[in-house]
Amino acid sequence: MKVEVNGIQLSYEDQGKGLPVLLIHGFPFDHQLWQPQIEALSKNYRVIAPDLRGFGESEIPNDTSGMAQFAGDLIALLDLLGIDQAVICGLSMGGYISLAIAESFPERMLGLVLSNTRSAKDTYAVRQNRYNTAEKVISAGNGFLADDMVGNLLSGKTVEGNPDLVAFVHDMILRQSSAGIYAALRGMAERKDRTFLLSDIEVPTMVIAGKEDSIIPFFESERLVKSLPIGYLEVIEDSGHLSNLEQPERYNEILEKYLESLAVFSK
Ligand code: MLT
Repeated sequence: MKVEVNGIQLSYEDQGKGLPVLLIHGFPFDHQLWQPQIEALSKNYRVIAPDLRGFGESEIPNDTSGMAQFAGDLIALLDLLGIDQAVICGLSMGGYISLAIAESFPERMLGLVLSNTRSAKDTYAVRQNRYNTAEKVISAGNGFLADDMVGNLLSGKTVEGNPDLVAFVHDMILRQSSAGIYAALRGMAERKDRTFLLSDIEVPTMVIAGKEDSIIPFFESERLVKSLPIGYLEVIEDSGHLSNLEQPERYNEILEKYLESLAVFSK
């Protein structure tokens, strides 16, 4: 489905009924990152899984997609769908966007899941690398990015033992537009440090970490959870950065347990 928000066509999935859960994908993916979760959760919950601007079927008119802008699109989408409050669940860049929602729209959150993500901004070196990669994607296309990223996104065990998943992730990166990737890389490079707001988050927050995540080292998730007033950490063994795809059963189990605990309070 598509709607117009903030002057662009935004594509999204809206499946199931019940407590609304907004699933925010990471970079450089689209809503299909959440395929196993959409399938499982929509049996008991209303699952909204958008394509962020510049990804999947959503448009991209700008050359920098800031985290606050992504957040604004998603809140506009919830407005159009008549949803006052949702559980916000973001993976990696989706987590950066979730924190932008926590900063500007805390009243819209029923709960928060920060999956394989961090609150800090980029270091100087990472920022420069993002700008360089953004330029290269425009000149060379995103084939090199798909090749370079897959090994970092998935654990060694997944790369060796699950070629179908490797191909699924590789293809998802390949089919994203260079313009969307360019704008998101610049947006991530320019994002601010949102660590300061963690101590003000009032909703129960589950932090999910992949034990073998090479993009978000485990100690960062341990540090993140310590800053949250009502936070707890779930660790997914045998998983790299894409825990929800690498260990979907375990991931769904902890997500469902978390949602059940929230549903009790929101009745
Ligand atoms: C993601 O999965 O969204 C990215 O790895 C985040 C990042 O590059 O910081």
